[in-house]
Amino acid sequence: MKLDAHWMPFTANKTFKQDPILMESSSGMHVTTEAGQTMIDMTAGLWCTNLGHSRERVAKAMYESAKTLGYVSSFNLGHRASFELAERLTDLSPGNLNHVFFSNSGSEAIDTALKIAMAYHAAKGQSGRKMFIARERAYHGVNLGGTAVGGLVNNTRNFGRWGTVAHLPHTLDHANNAFSRGLPKIGAEKAQALADLIALHGAENIAAVMVEPIAGAGGVLPPPVGYLKELRKICDEHDILLIFDEVVTGFGRTGSFTASIEFDVVPDIYTSAKGLTSGAVPMGATFCKDFIYDAVVNSVEGIEFWHGYTYSAHPIACAAAIACLDIYEEESLFTRVNEGIGDYFEEALHSLNDLPHVIDIRNYGLLGAIEFQPQSDGLPMGSRVYKKAMEKGVMVRGAGDSIILSPPLIIERSHIDEFVEKTRLAAAEIA
Ligand SMILES: Cc1ncc(COP(=O)(O)O)c(C=O)c1O
Repeated sequence: MKLDAHWMPFTANKTFKQDPILMESSSGMHVTTEAGQTMIDMTAGLWCTNLGHSRERVAKAMYESAKTLGYVSSFNLGHRASFELAERLTDLSPGNLNHVFFSNSGSEAIDTALKIAMAYHAAKGQSGRKMFIARERAYHGVNLGGTAVGGLVNNTRNFGRWGTVAHLPHTLDHANNAFSRGLPKIGAEKAQALADLIALHGAENIAAVMVEPIAGAGGVLPPPVGYLKELRKICDEHDILLIFDEVVTGFGRTGSFTASIEFDVVPDIYTSAKGLTSGAVPMGATFCKDFIYDAVVNSVEGIEFWHGYTYSAHPIACAAAIACLDIYEEESLFTRVNEGIGDYFEEALHSLNDLPHVIDIRNYGLLGAIEFQPQSDGLPMGSRVYKKAMEKGVMVRGAGDSIILSPPLIIERSHIDEFVEKTRLAAAEIA
């Protein structure tokens, strides 16, 4: 088979194609390669297969939908499943986040959120508000809007930032918070940088602040206690919208349906994807409060928001998401983290603090990171541990000098024990 035809995303194509790892099947907590190696998946794919891999009920729902209504445009047409799904999702959402716009990925959900924020201000007669404030180390997907607000240099280096964006400092603080369990205690004052940026750029130019409640791809950075509430307060003082990117933190990852519920801070807009269909089929969603929807929808006659995708609210994706919601609810997965497994995961993760080169361990809910000292040869420790861990039969994710964990929410204690044992073996070979 020729491998060159497929230009793979976020992959070292030349290296991968010399020694490709091809997956053949997946089930529950495990993935199996064509070569017959089975690994325990501590990453839920890419933070998405929250219900575990290849759930039959979801597959059946998709099949039934594909047979019955394989496609319908969402432009001036509808189908029942999208309205049912929207109602269930907004019922689960906090505050009056009562409206949801469907897309096909986290990246699209992000760009949709940025556009909704600008459309809202325009509808209120403040079309000058087009600037965004985001944060260092943020990952908001790869479309042009998400690239602009992102805070990871490799993702912007060749592309620039389209639009006007300023960045808050990230909240990682090894000196004060290394090996914190849950939310770090120190650092709420970092939110004051938002007031400084507003003073510098003028509130009348700023549409919204966008942050991940827990930065994910930037290294799993739980927010310092009180930090998000402070951002909320400052946004309110200046009529600036607060957007939470919950693409990773939604759907039970933190112990609540969303991190905004978990941290008791309600944004004006939030984004979701991944866990929405548990990775079974692409889908993104952008939620907004009544006052935003009402302002935009009542601002003109005819089409109010010139935005949408051919596959917005695709019937197969809606069927998958509804089947997923049924499973999440029947298996009480949105809050399972709080029923002992979150504490067990935390304890297990921190028991690895004696691994060679470890400089920090962070966790919240079923999210975690182990950070290693950068090595003088420049090879990121994350990819070294990732490779060794795979050889031992455990899938983790490398991110810079960290490995990141976000296991399916169905994980059992025995899986966590297996992860600890195999990660120890892998790390010992790197020392
Ligand atoms: C916080 C966050 N936002 C947005 C995205 C983009 O999602 P997608 O890859 O589905 O476009 C990701 C993907 O990992 C993410 O972690």
